[in-house]
Amino acid sequence: MSFTNVEPVRARLNRSELAVPGSRTELFAKAARSAADVIFLDLEDAVAPDDKPQARRNIVQALNEVDWGAKTVSVRINGLDTHYMYRDVVEVVEDGGGRLDLIMIPKVGTAADVYALDMLVTQIEQAKGWTRRIGFELIIESALGMANVDAIAAASRRNESLHFGVADYAASTKASTTSIGGANPNYAVLTDKDADGNRAVHWGDMWHYALSRMVVAARAHGLRPVDGPFGDFSDPEGFKAQARRAAVLGCEGKWAIHPSQVALANETFSPSAAEVEKAKRILAAMATAQKEGKGAVALDGKLIDIASIRQAEVLVKKAEQIGAHAG
Ligand code: COA
Ligand code: MG
Repeated sequence: MSFTNVEPVRARLNRSELAVPGSRTELFAKAARSAADVIFLDLEDAVAPDDKPQARRNIVQALNEVDWGAKTVSVRINGLDTHYMYRDVVEVVEDGGGRLDLIMIPKVGTAADVYALDMLVTQIEQAKGWTRRIGFELIIESALGMANVDAIAAASRRNESLHFGVADYAASTKASTTSIGGANPNYAVLTDKDADGNRAVHWGDMWHYALSRMVVAARAHGLRPVDGPFGDFSDPEGFKAQARRAAVLGCEGKWAIHPSQVALANETFSPSAAEVEKAKRILAAMATAQKEGKGAVALDGKLIDIASIRQAEVLVKKAEQIGAHAG
């Protein structure tokens, strides 16, 4: 280990994060009853400019009146380049801050963006005399944000998670895409000819670098990395494939832009019973090995070592967290 210790942020389940437009009040109670770990009430791109003042009032009312149970509740404010932002923060935090867990900041470009929001929220909390600190979720969705991702991740003690906003990221980098968060057949390689002269097309994941880069920045600062939207909500297989590859890279969850995606995300980002059982066997085998003074041992014909213990511990802890949440 480095002498620099990475302190993880407070643990929250973040397997599924359901987007709910602040202008659609009929969805609020449904979202609260859903199985999503996190709900974000949106003031940004899902709300038309003329509807923003009313959407703020809707959200304040929902924060105060809807029974959100044990859910984490977040509000996505407008970007720092708009005049909506300061009112979003002042109105929502002053009047609804008692039940607000997180603020989602879109299109973060520099550490100073986070610093500015931190100052504003800190002043409101102090004026209210609150001791509970509202956290930040930051969307990395521009070339500038990705270029500054490490400094952004380190910018505030309120930071809890980084989210990959694939659609705006594509717009910012001028990437060519066919669907929000999906694959593109043009991002592919051709294999060499086989003995019969045939070649195969292997699709690649055009988001691999961006997602990996964000995961590294998040983990290096103790934050949760979360994958963003998959737009085609009538394609559950496509959603699951994207969720699985994000989980493999280390993400803790994925957005749901439709309620049908919540269960898919929860399932993908929960360790399976078999994985938990295997992790427990690894911990048991390592405990025995340590008693016998061995550093590395074999389990089922494969090497397990100290790194295996850490992975197994993370998995068992996650399973316990999910169990506590469910029951
Ligand atoms: N939260 C909670 N419930 C939702 C919901 C949401 N985001 N979206 C839809 N529902 C409900 C509907 O009210 C409907 O409920 P019912 O069975 O009681 O009638 C049910 O889920 C099925 O909805 P459906 O008719 O398939 O969807 P829709 O046409 O009403 O809405 C979207 C589709 C995509 C417009 C809507 O899901 C949505 O606004 N999603 C969030 C988009 C967003 O916030 N984007 C910004 C981040 S990328
Ligand atoms: Mg966006």
